[in-house]
Amino acid sequence: MPAFEYKGSELYCEDVALAAIAEAVGTPVYVYSRGEIERAYRAFDEALDGVPHEICYAVKANSTLGILGVLVELGAGADIVSIGELYRWLRAGGTAEHVVFSGVGKTESEMRTALEAGIGCFNVESAEELDALDRIAMSMHKHAPVSIRVNPDVDPQTHPYISTGLKQNKFGVSMAEALELFERPSRHRGIDFIGIDCHIGSQLTKTSPFADAIARLVELVHKIDRKLRHVDIGGGLGIDYGKGETIVSPAEYGAAVRTALAPLTSTGVRLVVEPGRAIVGAAGALISRVLYRKHNDAKHFTIVDAAMNDLLRPALYNSHHPILPVRHPDRPTSTTDVVGPICETGDFFARDRPLPALEAGELVAIGAAGAYGAAMSSNYNTRPRAAEVLVNGDKFAVIRSRETYEQLVANERLA
Ligand code: LLP
Repeated sequence: MPAFEYKGSELYCEDVALAAIAEAVGTPVYVYSRGEIERAYRAFDEALDGVPHEICYAVKANSTLGILGVLVELGAGADIVSIGELYRWLRAGGTAEHVVFSGVGKTESEMRTALEAGIGCFNVESAEELDALDRIAMSMHKHAPVSIRVNPDVDPQTHPYISTGLKQNKFGVSMAEALELFERPSRHRGIDFIGIDCHIGSQLTKTSPFADAIARLVELVHKIDRKLRHVDIGGGLGIDYGKGETIVSPAEYGAAVRTALAPLTSTGVRLVVEPGRAIVGAAGALISRVLYRKHNDAKHFTIVDAAMNDLLRPALYNSHHPILPVRHPDRPTSTTDVVGPICETGDFFARDRPLPALEAGELVAIGAAGAYGAAMSSNYNTRPRAAEVLVNGDKFAVIRSRETYEQLVANERLA
């Protein structure tokens, strides 16, 4: 059952009417379906059945404690890219042991904190980072568990901003350099090489780039003269944003991964995956109220109370999100731009979109907003960040209150 669906003429999340949430909590508000997160996680897990694997949820996709708590309960590990994300993961009840730490710019203090916490693996992205981690681990009389992030130079065929596995991207090291790093262990006595990894991009809608990247990792594993504990293939599985795109199901993804990894079956190496969007993307919607409508010779605009500070994806990637009226979807459509109140032309949710003709005062749901929505929100234009609500069956809980103006200025003072 989809997380958001009409019952009669009312849009629901599970068994709660979105209008009831908007009434109680105000707008804009992010609403998430717990059931959908659980369903997506299990679908992903089952798709990899038969391959010993660990799902390290990419915290960056949605790092709200109430969401992380669901992932902890499901038994997920975490992929983090900052110590802030580790802090959140531990606060949500997660353990450090099942954490992998990615990112090209880990600071010395982040490395220390992660080593102290005892995280499962550092995904190291450069020779200089490896040297720094080695030095820090030695000074702490520890061994840092390390996976080298390889840049396999595979085109993920996605938006250029979220493509990460091409040689012109800043991520990882080349295959040749990875081999070199593995071959000089004596230089790195504070390092315990346990894996290799890659992450080629996000919102992938084909299986072939995953298969190509894995093939390159397999090639490397065969060349490396040491036993590795895991191969981490990152995240990246795309979701349906309602634009008619073809989507790879978790099952198809799992089948492709299984085939590509088959040459390693006998090595006993484990698979690590770092999905973010595929776990939480479809589970969230941003609920907003229509403030005004206006039109000129060229355009019709629908102005809503959510803005690019709440959901940046359309402004940043020109990305498509479905927009649904919360009540009475069956009515004539008209073409409109759905825009927010922020003083930027980039502050839009849809352009020239045929939608059921919206009225001032009514509610809309901006769908597929569970991933990289709240997590990328900001206070631009001194707008408090939206409240967030988690629905479970016929109940809902506020997992993040709307920010207050006092909180917005709490760290500021007059000079
Ligand atoms: N692992 C690493 C190392 C990553 O950099 C990412 C995402 C993931 C895993 C999770 O990828 P996913 O399964 O969610 O595709 N803000 C953009 C997406 C940026 C993704 C960055 N890295 C968006 O809104 O589309």
